[in-house]
Amino acid sequence: MAAPPPPRPEVESLQAYSAPLEGRRGLLRLDFNENTVGPSPKVVEAIRAIPADQYAIYPEYDGLREAVLASLAATPGTIAIEQVGLFNGVDAAIHAVFQAYGALGDRLLTTSPTFGYYTPCARMQGMAIEAIPYRLPDFAFPFEEMLAALSGPLSGAAESWCPPRLLLLCNPNNPTGTRLAPETVLALAAAAPHTLVVVDELYEAFTGDSVLPLLLGPGGQQDPEGQKPGIAAATAAGADAAPETAALAATAGVDPFAACPNLLVLRSLSKTAGIAGLRIGFAIGAAAVVDRVSRVTGPYDINSFAVTAAFAALADQAYVDAYVAEVLEARQWLVERLEAAGVRHHVDGGNYLLIWPKRPAAEVDQALREAGILVRSMAGKPLIDGSLRVSLGTLEQMGRFWAAFEICDANPG
Ligand SMILES: Cc1ncc(COP(=O)(O)O)c(C=O)c1O
Repeated sequence: MAAPPPPRPEVESLQAYSAPLEGRRGLLRLDFNENTVGPSPKVVEAIRAIPADQYAIYPEYDGLREAVLASLAATPGTIAIEQVGLFNGVDAAIHAVFQAYGALGDRLLTTSPTFGYYTPCARMQGMAIEAIPYRLPDFAFPFEEMLAALSGPLSGAAESWCPPRLLLLCNPNNPTGTRLAPETVLALAAAAPHTLVVVDELYEAFTGDSVLPLLLGPGGQQDPEGQKPGIAAATAAGADAAPETAALAATAGVDPFAACPNLLVLRSLSKTAGIAGLRIGFAIGAAAVVDRVSRVTGPYDINSFAVTAAFAALADQAYVDAYVAEVLEARQWLVERLEAAGVRHHVDGGNYLLIWPKRPAAEVDQALREAGILVRSMAGKPLIDGSLRVSLGTLEQMGRFWAAFEICDANPG
């Protein structure tokens, strides 16, 4: 009997990455860390204005990289166009990174728990995965363990040792919110010159610490809490490990990636600008790395709607800033309620926090769903099993969540 050829063994043993994405319409969606109010009206207007004949032609990307650079407030000539890659969401950029760099038997180094898509991407390449746990009780970044894993054995087996091919750092980390000082990211990149260090900055606009301001030096982007690049960051974990790396980066005038050609920064418009459904993400790094990662993507992977939406979203930074400010206010409000009620929780970077209900998490998850509110169960995740990840939205939405949570966590059945 005729049979199709078997797929690659890595694919045959792969479990598809599945997320509970169906049946979410009409509910208060606090389960995917999305923007909870939708994009700027200017984005909606721009999409509506696309003439129908444009649907018939392949998308054009002219000027989009420049618009990304302008949104980073880069001093002219600092980041070059070739240092920006465009992708069908950061997920597609992550996939492309693994396709371009991860070969059978290579090692992926990352943390645990972290964003779930890194693992299947590594597995489909046949890579070995080493995930170093965050440190309890407060999910601190395991800097020394990471450095040791990147540096290799001091003696003995040193000859047969190979550095990890890829280091994936989610900063701030989804789902623990752990923040990593940009100096620490640069220190790790400097300590591992033969490893591609990918820093996934999907949530940095909420409460996070991007490496880009440090690489760009004065005049680069600032974070929404108004901190100067590097100053607040210098107080975070591991920062004192890398003073010379920070100095090196800050002086980079022309090519910010000259000192760290093995660093790739991922950014997206999904969570901040509210266009997760349209799919667009960016990878910023040394031109050679961006080139290799872009080689494994199709020529028209980003559709015309996403391009139009991205131009409009990037041009309306005020809308994103106002949304981020509202989320941070709502975060403060919710944390005060949790503290006053004595509910165990963990909050750090990003637009989400972890809550350990008093009742079993699965029951509270289900009761909230019945009340029209979706959150994400962390069941089975190392270190945070039994918690719920709750995305942060507006004050009004957090008010609705809290009112429902208090009832669901108090009443059995
Ligand atoms: C850490 C992290 N990286 C990447 C993604 C995917 O982003 P995008 O929508 O740009 O593909 C997500 C989405 O949840 C995420 O949490």
